[in-house]
Amino acid sequence: MDCKRCLLFSLVGLSSIITLASAVNNRPIIGVLSQTTSGHFTQFGRAYIAASYVKYLESAGARVVPILVHQPDEYYKKMFNSLNGVLFPGGGQSDLLKSGYGKAGRLFYEMSIKSLDAKEDYFPVWGTCLGMELLSMLTANKDLLKDTDGAPVSLPLLFEKDFQKSKMYSAAPESIINTLKTENVTLNHHHLSLTPTNFSKNAALTGFYRVLSTSLDIKGVEFISSLEAYKYPIYGVQFHPEKNCFEWKDDNIDHSQDAVKVTQYFADFIVSEARKSNHAFKTEAEANSFLIYQYTPVYISNVSSFEQAYFFNP
Ligand SMILES: *[C@@H]1O[C@H](CO)[C@@H](O)[C@H](O)[C@H]1NC(C)=O
Ligand SMILES: *[C@@H]1O[C@H](CO)[C@@H](O)[C@H](O)[C@H]1NC(C)=O
Ligand SMILES: *[C@@H]1O[C@H](CO)[C@@H](O)[C@H](O)[C@H]1NC(C)=O
Repeated sequence: MDCKRCLLFSLVGLSSIITLASAVNNRPIIGVLSQTTSGHFTQFGRAYIAASYVKYLESAGARVVPILVHQPDEYYKKMFNSLNGVLFPGGGQSDLLKSGYGKAGRLFYEMSIKSLDAKEDYFPVWGTCLGMELLSMLTANKDLLKDTDGAPVSLPLLFEKDFQKSKMYSAAPESIINTLKTENVTLNHHHLSLTPTNFSKNAALTGFYRVLSTSLDIKGVEFISSLEAYKYPIYGVQFHPEKNCFEWKDDNIDHSQDAVKVTQYFADFIVSEARKSNHAFKTEAEANSFLIYQYTPVYISNVSSFEQAYFFNP
């Protein structure tokens, strides 16, 4: 290599290092979808987010913005362009796709795919429990969920072949993998599940997602417990990684040190994905006006399965 080329080469090398370095966002802000309240939750407000999801993301170094339901499309576009990822939390929503949660979720799912396709713009989407169910419905364009035993239970994961080559688990230390494999550390509380049978029969799903693990419910029915999109930063888990650290009402939740590390692993993973996004609010003051810090969580431990929740009146 002559010197000119050598210099050119090192300049190109240097600039790509600079681009990579500036691409790490160490002030990630993640949106959490709210859900319309029903039953006795309506006394507190029209929409809610269980505070455990907020603490979970905050504990890994992200800030949180609540995503309100039933807002105009411009609001969701604005949130997409300002946030570094979105989490679809668990819960119960009848008529999932038509709910405010489902409609808002669809917009983020579609914007994430479109922007990666158009300009390699990275926007992670994470679905927990109901959120993973929503992801499966959005991708399949229909409901392929099977009614399974809904009893809350902590289960181990049965990993698929090559799962350690996935984005979700490739950074996991052997100790975390071992805990997930051998201990009852993933709290499941869902009536509906995506089975490997229905998954493998649907080309839209098999072309889009890679199954990373399954679990067996208490009746022995196998369901998909974690998956990720091949091409997009889209992830789903049927269990509740946030509960081991932040919810205490259900005796089936494992609060052991190993279980806590599992919670921390998944929180770190989601936030590490958000650090790859460089979307931003226009100013810090604008970010502040949307952050969850503007709201105060309410004690609901005596009337629900959550310790605390945020309520909204959009
Ligand atoms: C497959 O999906 C249908 C809904 O479309 C559901 O009724 C059925 O129980 C599912 N079967 C399995 C084996 O998952
Ligand atoms: C996990 O739960 C099952 C079912 O209750 C039990 O048989 C098993 O011993 C548990 N495993 C551990 C490591 O506690
Ligand atoms: C639950 O706790 C709140 C706050 O302490 C209290 O105001 C409320 O009356 C309690 N509700 C019930 C049903 O016990």
